[in-house]
Amino acid sequence: MPAPVVILEKRGLVGLITLNRPDALNALSTRVMDELTAHIRTCEADEQIGCMVLTGTGRAFAAGADIKEMADKGYADALLEDFITRNWEEATRCRKPIIAAVNGLALGGGCELAMMCDFILCSEAARFGQPEVKVGVMPGAGGTQRLSRSIGKSKAMEMCLTGRMMDAAEAERCGLVSRIVPAEGLVEEALRVATQIAELSRPIIYMTKEAVNRSFEVPLSEGVRFERRLAHTTFALEDHKEGAAAFAARRKPVYKHR
Ligand code: HXC
Repeated sequence: MPAPVVILEKRGLVGLITLNRPDALNALSTRVMDELTAHIRTCEADEQIGCMVLTGTGRAFAAGADIKEMADKGYADALLEDFITRNWEEATRCRKPIIAAVNGLALGGGCELAMMCDFILCSEAARFGQPEVKVGVMPGAGGTQRLSRSIGKSKAMEMCLTGRMMDAAEAERCGLVSRIVPAEGLVEEALRVATQIAELSRPIIYMTKEAVNRSFEVPLSEGVRFERRLAHTTFALEDHKEGAAAFAARRKPVYKHR
């Protein structure tokens, strides 16, 4: 049995998923994406888990799609095997939040994968880039779309057209990442934040995540209406009553996820 290239560990209420192909800078081969997809689905189905953290071993989060594996693929192969579309977007399909803890290089598909997560924490060692143009291909897992929505047209265009890498400070300045955390404590901090989220009411978390994501899909008036409909439905939850009662009694709420 070959060693797993993606590891899933349960840390309390959090699923910690680690890309584990350090010799290839965690390049996202078919096998990596299959194992990653399976782990995300396992976490999604596990009632105890309320949030996930995705990180990588070694000096990379992920250096992109596996270029060596792609080398022999022709157009028909890519089309027929539904390359990328087949399962790369699993991180965007699940309802439980996923925090990317970017410990090093996040390039090409690695940057795209980080952007598919709900937010990104990174260390000072993080480097982000879309260098696909340099290897005769272009971003294919949402890079041109998510990067421009995240950091604006000018920076996104420059990154995608030149392949220039961005360091952690620049990534924080332009809003690609939410925070920079010292490298040695990155995963622990991501787990702490994930645990905080996992302890909250799950229906509320699902709805909140859905509403924020909706803002990227629809005009403002539609998004605000959608948000209001969801916000009204939260009044039907037991957790809504528990949250208010706990606040008034100055105690920690105990959510039943109902
Ligand atoms: C396969 C990769 C890889 C990748 C690194 N490696 N990136 N293997 N696919 N994307 C492997 C190297 O071949 C090498 O293996 C080992 O990891 C270490 O990498 P080095 O190049 O020796 O390290 P270094 O000199 O430090 O350079 C780091 C680097 C460089 C700048 C990140 O590795 C690099 O440019 N990688 C490619 C980045 C990239 O272009 N990503 C986008 C891919 S396309 P060996 O066995 O030789 O030691 C993509 C989307 C395509 O993501 C979408 C199409 C639809």
